[in-house]
Amino acid sequence: MRFLSSGESHGKALCGIIDDFPSGANIDFDFINNELKRRQSGYGRGMRMQIEDDKLEIISGIRNGITLGSPISFLIFNKDWQNWKDRLSPEALDIKDIENSEKILNPRPGHADFSGYVKYRFDDIRNVIERSSARETVIRVAAGSFAKILLEVFNVFVYSFVEKIGRFEINIKNFNKDLFLLAEKSDVRCPDEKISIRMKNEIDAAARNGDTLGGKFTVFVKGLPAGLGSYCQWDRRIDAKIAHAVMSIPAIKAVEIGSGVSSASSTGLGFHDEIFYDDRQGFYRKTNNAGGIEGGITNGEDLVVSAYMKPIPTTSQGLRTINLKTKNEQISLKERSDVCAVPAASVIGESMISLVLADAFQEKFGRDNVTEMFENYKNYINYLRNI
Ligand SMILES: Cc1cc2nc3c(=O)[nH]c(=O)nc-3n(C[C@H](O)[C@H](O)[C@H](O)COP(=O)(O)O)c2cc1C
Repeated sequence: MRFLSSGESHGKALCGIIDDFPSGANIDFDFINNELKRRQSGYGRGMRMQIEDDKLEIISGIRNGITLGSPISFLIFNKDWQNWKDRLSPEALDIKDIENSEKILNPRPGHADFSGYVKYRFDDIRNVIERSSARETVIRVAAGSFAKILLEVFNVFVYSFVEKIGRFEINIKNFNKDLFLLAEKSDVRCPDEKISIRMKNEIDAAARNGDTLGGKFTVFVKGLPAGLGSYCQWDRRIDAKIAHAVMSIPAIKAVEIGSGVSSASSTGLGFHDEIFYDDRQGFYRKTNNAGGIEGGITNGEDLVVSAYMKPIPTTSQGLRTINLKTKNEQISLKERSDVCAVPAASVIGESMISLVLADAFQEKFGRDNVTEMFENYKNYINYLRNI
């Protein structure tokens, strides 16, 4: 399974195509639209998300709520397009005066503005902003919802919560669904009520200072069987695929599997998860520092992936930059913007990881049809139980 997205931040619509999704899956549209809502929300987001009301419009690949195995394509319309349709018209309109006066030439340090302007030989940073904007991630969440629907057939559930915003963080060892349900109730997707309040205050303080924040979120996945991924080639390792998928989310600057960061300062005896066996559980571990992956393959424990997000580059105070035409010093572009988007990023993280896992399930259990996949899966689970 793979997906492609197209569309600009203030264009008419964003568009997604999921290729190679199996036939026979029941698609719950309310579930998908609710996932889109989860991405839109979160304390610290800007005005834009209040304008939009993201809803999926299916173009192909589904009949009477059931997937056909053909490419699933869909649109999500931008309400804000109404305010931009002249400036961003695909056709050449005669509005040269407006265009010239509105050209953006003061790149934001930390955004794609400078590198995109140079690479694509633009004369207006607007052309960079429109595609480099994280608005595109709405398609990832839609595609990820399809992946989640497939994973749930195999009792695999993907959860996330926010662990750190600014200076405040929670330290969690026991990843369970209750934690996720608490996070769902929090505006910052943090399961601890007191820390949630501190995080919100931190966001308010940053906004007052014309500043922004980043943070850290963790995705954990329950119900994965041992045996997804492979050590046989570098690009088949499931940890590598997950790191790629999560790192592709705008502003994510580090990805950690399990206790990967502290592993560097641990000893072998202290770090590695010893293996136990009993008749009821089969093989099991008492710790999960590996985060559910050993040798590029899932080991049957919970998958635990954390991601570190840098602060939002658009600040209302602005940073020093250079005007790309005049070469004079200027303050960086101040556009309507989020102050903190870690809660939304955690939902996007769930989606990206779901897409990798759904593809891994197809690789192991078949790509064509859900019932066939499930039969192969049952057979494999039977094998695992009888090792
Ligand atoms: C959900 C989400 C919302 C974001 N919102 C904004 C925003 O409003 N303003 C902004 O400047 N950057 C925002 N960003 C961050 C930029 O997209 C990101 O910093 C930029 O793409 C450059 O990051 P990179 O160097 O990792 O590519 C957001 C990122 C995410 C994941």
